[in-house]
Amino acid sequence: MREQDLVVAVAGATGAVGREMLKTLEARKFPAARVRALASSRSAGKELPFGDSRLVVEELKEDSFADTDLALFSAGGDTSKKFAPIAARAGCVVVDNSSAWRMDPDVPLVVPEVNPEALEEHKNIIANPNCSTIQMVVALKPIYDQAGIRRIIVSTYQAVSGSGQKAIQELENQVRALFNMQEPENHVYPYQIAFNCLPHIDDFLDNDYSKEEMKMVNETRKILNDESLRITATTVRVPVFYGHSESVNIETQTRLSAKEARVLLSRSPGIRVLDNPRENIYPMPIQAAGEDETFVGRIREDISLENGLDLWIVADNIRKGAALNAVQIAEELVSKNLLVRDI
Ligand code: A2P
Repeated sequence: MREQDLVVAVAGATGAVGREMLKTLEARKFPAARVRALASSRSAGKELPFGDSRLVVEELKEDSFADTDLALFSAGGDTSKKFAPIAARAGCVVVDNSSAWRMDPDVPLVVPEVNPEALEEHKNIIANPNCSTIQMVVALKPIYDQAGIRRIIVSTYQAVSGSGQKAIQELENQVRALFNMQEPENHVYPYQIAFNCLPHIDDFLDNDYSKEEMKMVNETRKILNDESLRITATTVRVPVFYGHSESVNIETQTRLSAKEARVLLSRSPGIRVLDNPRENIYPMPIQAAGEDETFVGRIREDISLENGLDLWIVADNIRKGAALNAVQIAEELVSKNLLVRDI
């Protein structure tokens, strides 16, 4: 297939991630002859901007994929569970942003800077990892390769945009209400998120971890292909619109100084080191929002451990954490000629 013949669909095109997927396809000049916007029947007929033109939203249906080569999905887990296999059987390769397929052994879970080789085995469904996992593995992979990692302890500070368009609106409405002496309403989260922190992302499990925390554990092991890696996570929602931050403590197998880590990371793909605390230089979500890179700072040797390092990792959760990573996967599929596949 010639690149210029590609038909690409975005399923969930009206959502926070879907809109960014359209923007990213356009901004990176993805080689598509046609881009289609799919969403629920509620949005059919609406128009979405795409470069200088507009796309008319079509309803996502079982027959939506007949003439489509590639579909980027971000329409929730249930939609992915139902429609990704239908698309795959129709010969359309799916890059799925939901958690529906990530741990399926037949589905590669890919961050292009970390494990692009996993794409070779795809069977028309590829999973985009969880946003917090993506930025953590981008920053940790060079250290993993150089010094080995025994254990990871991570705490996250996650933006509301990770819960979709409705959550962005909820934070904005609550801030407005509170400044106008009104009672804030909460629909997306169990408590007020404005001026608050919720140590609760996704449902809680029998082991008292949240699903988000276990996603970080299981997905990191799958991406790094290391089931022996010990990981514990605490994931927290904070009143930030865009950009997830993470405090990460690692125990390496062999010693790596903070200085060596700084040099190593600054030479690694997809990473920008911002680390000069004396000049107040460190990554922050307001700076990472709208950017492609994963920002790393506060790199220091852990004073409580022989081979320990502390890092502060920040990235735009909608871009590298979702839309950009999906488009980078699509670019790899095109450049490695992995799009056409009979299953
Ligand atoms: P719609 O806008 O028509 O409801 P977000 O993550 O920002 O909440 O966005 C979710 C995206 O998933 C939206 O584009 C939404 O479309 C889409 N979506 C949700 N449910 C379905 C469904 N059953 N079929 C197709 N698209 C869906």
